[in-house]
Amino acid sequence: MTIYNDEFSAYINSLFVPEDAALRRAREDSPKRGLPAIQIKPEEGRFLQFLVRACGAQKALEIGTLGGYSGIWIARGLSPGGRLITLEVEPLHAQVAAEHFAAAGVAERIEIRVGNAHDLLKSLPAEGPFDFIFIDAEKTGYPRYLDWALENIRLNGVVAVHNAFRKGSVAGLVEADKFTAITQEFNRRFAAEPSLISTIFPAGDGMLVGVKVSE
Ligand code: DHB
Ligand code: MG
Repeated sequence: MTIYNDEFSAYINSLFVPEDAALRRAREDSPKRGLPAIQIKPEEGRFLQFLVRACGAQKALEIGTLGGYSGIWIARGLSPGGRLITLEVEPLHAQVAAEHFAAAGVAERIEIRVGNAHDLLKSLPAEGPFDFIFIDAEKTGYPRYLDWALENIRLNGVVAVHNAFRKGSVAGLVEADKFTAITQEFNRRFAAEPSLISTIFPAGDGMLVGVKVSE
């Protein structure tokens, strides 16, 4: 049996993950600017780009911008004319992300909205339904973000959610932390959601993915 590890990650990245200078900068610059270095891994970013294009997304939404690394990947997967709205609670993160979007040449395709995402989502149904939604924010908010996403994703649209593995703790590989139990509960709910065909993409910290197949 093979177990996904850093060597497989490097192998996939060497073949399939063309990280250009702007993506590298977004990854490397964020910690220097005081942002936590918790962005998705390059192969997770490539997977988001793949999903966005596979579902023909023109309207994408991200909950949790951070330094913009994932947003660049999503924006680069959009169909021509597509747009990404990304929500961020920390003004510094939004500022740094805006610089990274500009450097990556995707700033015109992305709108950053600064504020509490739960509040910002209240007016967003009017701009939907969305073709692609990526959730990567505070873990305690995930159940409500998923409620919203299921209401506002179109048929055959894709919902992706980061940190399904909680560093391996959901499967007992490392000791549980304060978010392990809620992550396990969330994963169970996502798996059982009848309107989705879903699974976990097992790179990085685990990416839940579901395609909406019924109302
Ligand atoms: C951590 C990682 C993440 O991807 C995230 O969204 C939140 C926290 C972490 O490593 O603590
Ligand atoms: Mg995350």
